[in-house]
Amino acid sequence: MAEETAGIRIPGHVAIIMDGNGRWAEKRGLPRTAGHAKGCEVLEQTVRDCANIGIRYFTVYAFSTENWKRSVEEVSGLMHLFRIYIRKLQKVAMEENVRVRVIGERRRFAPDLIAALDEIESVTKGNTRMDFVMAMNYGGRDEIRRAVVKLAGLVRSGALNPEDITEETISRALDTGEIPDPDFLIRTSGEKRLSNFLLWQSAYTEFYSTPVLWPDFNKEELLRDLAVYGSRDRRYGGVKTK
Ligand code: IPE
Ligand code: IPE
Ligand code: MG
Repeated sequence: MAEETAGIRIPGHVAIIMDGNGRWAEKRGLPRTAGHAKGCEVLEQTVRDCANIGIRYFTVYAFSTENWKRSVEEVSGLMHLFRIYIRKLQKVAMEENVRVRVIGERRRFAPDLIAALDEIESVTKGNTRMDFVMAMNYGGRDEIRRAVVKLAGLVRSGALNPEDITEETISRALDTGEIPDPDFLIRTSGEKRLSNFLLWQSAYTEFYSTPVLWPDFNKEELLRDLAVYGSRDRRYGGVKTK
């Protein structure tokens, strides 16, 4: 393991609520989309950093089910950036041996973006160093609702007995069915809300709020945040740490 992480307990699964792009741009007199563009660059570097540090699962909140309520300009700016970013990310993921997975209800996106999301998942499927999970049109409540619909269908068809529904059954029916729960959740920009992110999965996740705005996030900040995780005493759950 790299020298910079010597002595730091690395969580198996790190999740980030990337917040503060708008404030970063507004502080500079730039349009909010400029903050999102910088945020995409920072995310690309952070994917590389997480893989190099030895994190096994890295999840980010990229677009929430509530984010559609933003202005038409901002939403279309974000969709434009997603198209460019996904193409770029596919190269990065292949270089870094990273598997990309997308959670959330992708059907609401435009057909070409859906196709790009499907493609990046299938092209990177065999990559083994890290799983990078992008939450796109994701809401924890919507994810639970969709899981309930799925399970109700199985009950109706006779494939599942209601009495046999365990916590494990529910976990498996979520978008994150194959992904372990996050150990450490960072939210940038000083906010202290979950904003509908990984509601079921973060039952025992350690939460940390840093004042750094997402476009200013970097490896030094990541290592500082991971040191906070290392200093905490976990009670339950989590991926085995290295
Ligand atoms: C997070 O930054 C990015 C997305 C939600 C897509 P914001 O756009 O929420 O930035 P602030 O919170 O307004 O500063
Ligand atoms: C959460 O941030 C969603 C993402 C980071 C994609 P928001 O900025 O949208 O959340 P609220 O509005 O502060 O709850
Ligand atoms: Mg915000």
